[in-house]
Amino acid sequence: MEHSSRYIVLFAAAVCGVCSIFVAVSAVSLKERQELNQQLDIQKKVLNLAGLLSAEEKLPSEEISRRFKDNIVPRVVNLATGSYVDEVDADTFDQKRAAKDPDTSRTAPTNPAKVRRVPNLAVVYRVEPNDELKALILPIEGYGLWGTLYGFISLAPDVETIEGITFYEHKETPGLGGEVDNPRWKSLWKGRKAFDDQGDVRITVKKGIAGSPEDDPYHVDGLAGATITSRGVTNLLEFWLGEPGFGAFLDQVRSERGV
Ligand SMILES: Cc1cc2nc3c(=O)[nH]c(=O)nc-3n(C[C@H](O)[C@H](O)[C@H](O)COP(=O)(O)O)c2cc1C
Repeated sequence: MEHSSRYIVLFAAAVCGVCSIFVAVSAVSLKERQELNQQLDIQKKVLNLAGLLSAEEKLPSEEISRRFKDNIVPRVVNLATGSYVDEVDADTFDQKRAAKDPDTSRTAPTNPAKVRRVPNLAVVYRVEPNDELKALILPIEGYGLWGTLYGFISLAPDVETIEGITFYEHKETPGLGGEVDNPRWKSLWKGRKAFDDQGDVRITVKKGIAGSPEDDPYHVDGLAGATITSRGVTNLLEFWLGEPGFGAFLDQVRSERGV
């Protein structure tokens, strides 16, 4: 049976119409679930860095959220003033989106971490079981060799000693820059010092092997064959721990705690 051109065009248009309705309905109905999953994913990373959830532990989502609620207090911070902003819900605040919108972010000063925009507000996570501050977890991001690395750094209550670091999203080469998420390399950070006595950011990923945290507190081993990624990690820490990032907030915490 022969079909006219008109019939073929109308048939194709009808198929496209039905498919696009199907895609649109799926996208809208799954949006809430996707947002919940993203929130859960952040909770897992923060708990893991806080030492409250191991990578192997498989827990139902309600249990992860309960553990998070019992131990972690997420707070929104105004990066310019360093003060907490209680009016904004830290559980739902989307920092990545805020950093892209010119109304909720500003242009970053030129920096080697290639951070282009800084959000006006950011989320910090206070590890606070039984109302006692155990660590502060801050989001960090910056350019490596192939793209932006996203992660978190955890600082002890002295606002100086590093408890840990993690990178959960990056485009670095597996086995080279991709070793940023190697547990052995990440374990080298605990006990190092992020700042010197003047409060300047000093922590550096060096080329080669660093000494122990006691003897060589400002250095971490470089990633073999990945000097550019290693330098990227140094750069992004200098940015986020310094004045353009969480500097004002960390100053406030220091004065509150008298450290
Ligand atoms: C296929 C390929 C992938 C690479 N991936 C990375 C990477 O992820 N991170 C990085 O710093 N260097 C990477 N490099 C190496 C860099 O080009 C550069 O040579 C290296 O950073 C220098 O480090 P080194 O001085 O420790 O050898 C890659 C090189 C090649 C050929």
